[in-house]
Amino acid sequence: MKVEVRVPATSANLGPGFDCLGLALSLYNTITVETEASANSLKIKCTGPYAEGITTDESNLVWKTMLHLWHSINFPIPSVTLTLDIHIPPARGLGSSSTAIVGGLLAANAVAGNLLTQNELLQMANALEGHPDNVAPALFGGVTLSVPTENGVHTRILARSPKLTAIAVVPEILVKTEKARAVLKPEVSRKDAVFNIAHVGLIVEAFLTENYELLHEGMRDKLHQDQRAALIPGMHTAIAAALEAGAYGAALSGSGPTLIALSPAVQASRIAAGMRQSLTKKALDVRVYTLEVDANGASIAIP
Ligand code: HSE
Repeated sequence: MKVEVRVPATSANLGPGFDCLGLALSLYNTITVETEASANSLKIKCTGPYAEGITTDESNLVWKTMLHLWHSINFPIPSVTLTLDIHIPPARGLGSSSTAIVGGLLAANAVAGNLLTQNELLQMANALEGHPDNVAPALFGGVTLSVPTENGVHTRILARSPKLTAIAVVPEILVKTEKARAVLKPEVSRKDAVFNIAHVGLIVEAFLTENYELLHEGMRDKLHQDQRAALIPGMHTAIAAALEAGAYGAALSGSGPTLIALSPAVQASRIAAGMRQSLTKKALDVRVYTLEVDANGASIAIP
């Protein structure tokens, strides 16, 4: 059997929506799985601009995720050849580990005859990743709000195709999510919590009413960005440069180091130039992606 899964990059938090807001982006990793029932073996090949550095042994995250799903439903492990086509820069705050988890789960589920529902896959992805804000948009597409409930995470899709451009400015430094979470204080003040709750409300209104001007104030944050600034030289000036150049709003993408600006399409190149300049002043090489919001999330094909 052959299964091909394409999973979008994602940008989590959108400023104040720590661990709950996210959006899918039009940049993709593709996972191709070929299985045979016979001899039990594993081969992993990587292609694409970010193939280097992806592990090709049993510690590979796509493979570990597939095994996790198969074990959970007692599915007999087949022989597997995995081909991973990697276009999303890893460890940069663009959800590359979520593509491995969501892609691995969808592929393993398809091989096993689609026994698990989308909701079960979401719960499993959330448990494996530890927070839902990247896995939810990777799975469903659009702009998502993920709500922790007593019955697991519940995801709402706020918008599928908002009319805006996403400029992702990716510094050539690696920031591991664990490290960027470790710098956060375990407690927050009531004042800062209220600030973020209110600002998430503005973001929700911005997407539901297509009043993207609200993102300017809405994407401000008090819970994590300041504490992470030391890991990303030039973060504050790059966000200010994006707003100055006409972005609706700008923020750290996930736990960084990527910065994301949401803007009208016509302003995109000015904004990209302003952000690039702020970061290169701090001696960081950057790569700029001008993207759309991906409307549909991960897609699966049986070629
Ligand atoms: N919400 C997570 C964090 C996203 O900010 O740590 C990690 O990509």
